[in-house]
This record gives sequence, structure tokens and C-alpha cells, in this order.
Amino acid sequence: MSKRFYITTAIDYVNGQPHLGHAYEKIVADVIARSRRSLGQEVFFLTGLDEHGQKVQQAAQAKGQTPQAYCDELAAQWQAFVVKLGITNDDFVRTTQPRHKAVVQAMLIKLHAQGDVYKAPYRGWYSWKEETFLTEKDREPDGSWHPRWGEVKELVEENWYFRMAKHQQWLIEFIEANPTFVQPDARRNEVLGFLKSRTLEDLCISRPAARLNWGIPIPFDPDYVNYVWFDALTNYVSVPVSLGDKTLSAVLPSTLDSRPATELWPADIHVIGKDIVRFHAVYWPIMLRASGIPLPKQVLVHGWWQKDGAPMSKTTGNVVDPVAVVDEWGVDALRFYVLRELDIGPDGNWTDAGFRSRYQAELANGLGNLVNRSLAMLKRYRNGVVPARSDELAPDAGKVIADTRSLLEQSQLQAGLLSIWSLINRANQYVDQTAPFKLAKDPANAKRLDEVLYNLAETCRVLAVLLWPFIPGTATKIYAQLGLAAAPEKFSAATWGGLAPGHTIGEPSPLFPRKDV
Ligand code: ME8
Ligand code: MG
Repeated sequence: MSKRFYITTAIDYVNGQPHLGHAYEKIVADVIARSRRSLGQEVFFLTGLDEHGQKVQQAAQAKGQTPQAYCDELAAQWQAFVVKLGITNDDFVRTTQPRHKAVVQAMLIKLHAQGDVYKAPYRGWYSWKEETFLTEKDREPDGSWHPRWGEVKELVEENWYFRMAKHQQWLIEFIEANPTFVQPDARRNEVLGFLKSRTLEDLCISRPAARLNWGIPIPFDPDYVNYVWFDALTNYVSVPVSLGDKTLSAVLPSTLDSRPATELWPADIHVIGKDIVRFHAVYWPIMLRASGIPLPKQVLVHGWWQKDGAPMSKTTGNVVDPVAVVDEWGVDALRFYVLRELDIGPDGNWTDAGFRSRYQAELANGLGNLVNRSLAMLKRYRNGVVPARSDELAPDAGKVIADTRSLLEQSQLQAGLLSIWSLINRANQYVDQTAPFKLAKDPANAKRLDEVLYNLAETCRVLAVLLWPFIPGTATKIYAQLGLAAAPEKFSAATWGGLAPGHTIGEPSPLFPRKDV
């Protein structure tokens, strides 16, 4: 079998609450995954959880649970969250799974054997109360340590380090030669600026097991566990290895059973947020390079959401609960809003008023109204039977189909929606211009009415196919109301003339019920 299009999200910290930022990232990746499937590619879409570390160990202890039991409970909630968002992931990785641990250890053994990891003293400011090293950033403006850290003392301990600097020049050249490796360009420039302005420090990849035992044991030093980022980043290869991927199996021993191999590596897109660019565009490429593994094709970086112009925060209560939004407005309303409002790259700002206004104007009055009146008129004037083919809107549709295809191929999701909405607006304008409700009053206009009704119904069908990656539930409803049995999930169906004359449509009903505010 040929290599699949392999797309990933960041793996979320299991002990955090699923919030709008997590929802957004998964929706972005899901729309790209669905687009690629629609365009005929085989896709593998991975998301999951980052489960090791100090905070999880402490939180579990506070609840009187084992860390594993604590993670299992939270993982069930995260998996339900993914289902709620209509995410079509093919697998769900948890860093506590044996398949993942085996690959982390294999990578460590390989890097150790090559001399790429070494042990050295680590000196830093340590909070005994929080059981963590602090950095200069944690100091108060006057240089003191906040009382919440308890006693802070300088501590020296041995740890394992991964060598970084020897790959620095190579990475600069790689990123310069591969302009699409980090996208958008602003993020690429940020990474290059970082790489060119300093010598990379080696990455500390361990913690003494005496202090932190909730981690993957360092296979060649049982007194230590692997520390979070090395562990977390490796999820992107541990799942492919567990599925027998050939490119990776050449480097890392595969835990494959007898199933046929799934070819995934190199990943096509890692979707991540702006705060973790350095890990994905500097540390990860160097880890792979040192291990002899080809690099992923793209790190696609999205911005962060705020609410009402301020950072979201549980403590201040300034949050958007994506689950509550889905319960009240439906999952497609959430998916549509976040993708339409925010291009992949800049930061976004959620306001309830903005959400309602897009729901009303673009979903209910734009798309919903077009589909509802087109199908209702076909039902009323022609008993739901599709008239003879007419191509009046075919050129408009054809242009939007071609534009949308190319935008989807470039992961330009907001622009894709704008393109699709240009056809919705064109068709609504066509209803106003041709006034089928007036044509219906005079039998002499029967042929003209047939033409208008065909153009509208066929435009609705094409729209369902184009919209499927973004708002699959709505697209499926449009197909059902058109009386079509197939799902609108293949882009190749977005070809004018698909609706057969003589076909009887189903029951029209509003796609986006009015909400009284
Ligand atoms: O960083 N808006 O996990 P995480 C948009 N476990 N995106 C946001 C956001 C916001 N307000 N807040 C967070 C971790 N995100 C690590 C990742 S990957 C090998 C390990 C995004 O739960 C954030 O940018 O803190 C990241 O991409 C993702 O949510 C998970 O964040
Ligand atoms: Mg975070």
C-alpha cells in the first residue's frame, strides 16, 4: 500500500481542561484530513494525550489515585471531547501506552549509543513545595520568589542531555531551503531569527526518578525517567512504528505484529499552536536528524484564541466552553465560526455577539435560507421532481469548485469558506433576480421556472460537497433533503450536472433554526 497523508495535532496535557484552543486545533486538523480524503487521498489522522510529568503525579497523589488511574479517567473525557467535535482521527495516542514507551526507549538507546546524549550536572533554582525547577522568568519583578513556591534553593543534580548545537547550521540551511517547512511565513521567520541569534543549548531530557517517577524510564540509567518534551514529541513516530511503517522500521525496531504495514512517515502536517513552535521546528527536527529519520513535511502553526480581548483563563472565568457551544448551537456552528473567523496564523478573539452574528447572517440567512427556499420551491411548484438540466450557474459553480479545490490543497481553510460563500451569495442573488415565486404565477413562464429551479437545486448539491470537510453534518442534511442516498464526501461529485432530471427530492427543513436572542 502507498504512503498515506499523515496529519497530527499536538497532544494535549491530560490534566488540563479541554477548551476552545484545543477544540480549534482539532477542528483545523480535521478539516484538512477530511479535505484530503474528499480529494481522494488515503489519510491517517492522529491526535492524543501527553500524560507524564510532575503535575500529573502531584494531582493524582492529591486525589489519592495512582497516576495511571487518574490519567485513564481524564483520557475518557478527552476522547469524548474529540467525538463531540466530529473529529475523524484514525488513532488516539496516549504517552502511557506500551507502544509509545517502547519507541521512546528505542530512540534513547540509539542516541546514547551514538554519543548524542550525555550526563552532566544541572544547576538551578528548585521549589521544594512545587517540586520543580524555576527559571528566571518565574521571578517577581523585584527579583524575589513568590511565597507560593515555598522555600526556593539552588540545587545541583545530574541529568541526561541531548546534543543540539552541532545540528544548528544544518537546520538553518534546511529551513531556508524549504520555505514550506514552517508555515505561515511569520512563524518561519521567527524560528530562523531564534536559530541565528544564539548557540543552541543542549536539551535536558531526564529527571531523577527519586523526584519524579511518572515518566518513561531511561533504559540505560534506571535512576532516571525521560522528561516531557522528548517523550511527547516522539508520539508522532511511535504510532507509525507500532503500525509497521517501513521508513521508521529501518531505524527503530518495530513492535509490529503480523498485520500489513501502514506507511505513514514522514508526516505531512503537524498542526500546532504558536507557543510550541520551538519544540516542533527546532528540537524535533534535530531529534529526528540525529536519529537518522527523515523530517516531516510541514509544521503548520495556528494562533491563540482570546475571549473579549483578554486571554482565556479558568481563574478569571474568562473562557469559552466549546462543549456548551456545541450543545446549544450544534457542532457545525462551532466548526464554521472558528474557521471563518480566524485564518491559520494570527490570534483570534471570540465574542458571543460575533458568534451569533455569523450564525444568523452566514449560516441561517445565507446558506440555510438558500437551501430551504430552493428546495421548498421545487417541492411546491414541481412536486419535488427535478426538471431538465440547465447550466446557467454552471460557470459560477465551476470557478468556485476549482478555487476551493486549490485552497483546500494548500490548507487555506478560511479562504476556502470565503470561496464557497461567494457561490452561496451568487445563488441567493439569483433567486432575487429571477424571482421564481413570480414566475410560478403564470404558466407561460413554466420553462423559465424549470431552469431556475434546476440551477438552484444543483447549486445546493454542489455546495454540500464543497462544505463537507467543514460542516459535515450540514452537508449530509443537504444531501438527504435532496433525496440523495450517497454521502457528499467525495470532491469529485462537485461537478455540475450531477442532479438527474426526474429525480424526486426529499423533505426540505431548516438547517439552522432561528434563535431568539
Ligand atoms: O502544549 N488558542 O499541551 P497543551 C489556541 N502537551 N490554541 C491553544 C490555546 C488557545 N487559547 N491554548 C492552547 C502542550 N492551545 C503539550 C504539547 S505536542 C508533542 C505536546 C494549543 O494542552 C497549544 O498551542 O498545553 C497546543 O498546540 C495545544 O493547544 C495543546 O496545548
Ligand atoms: Mg499549553
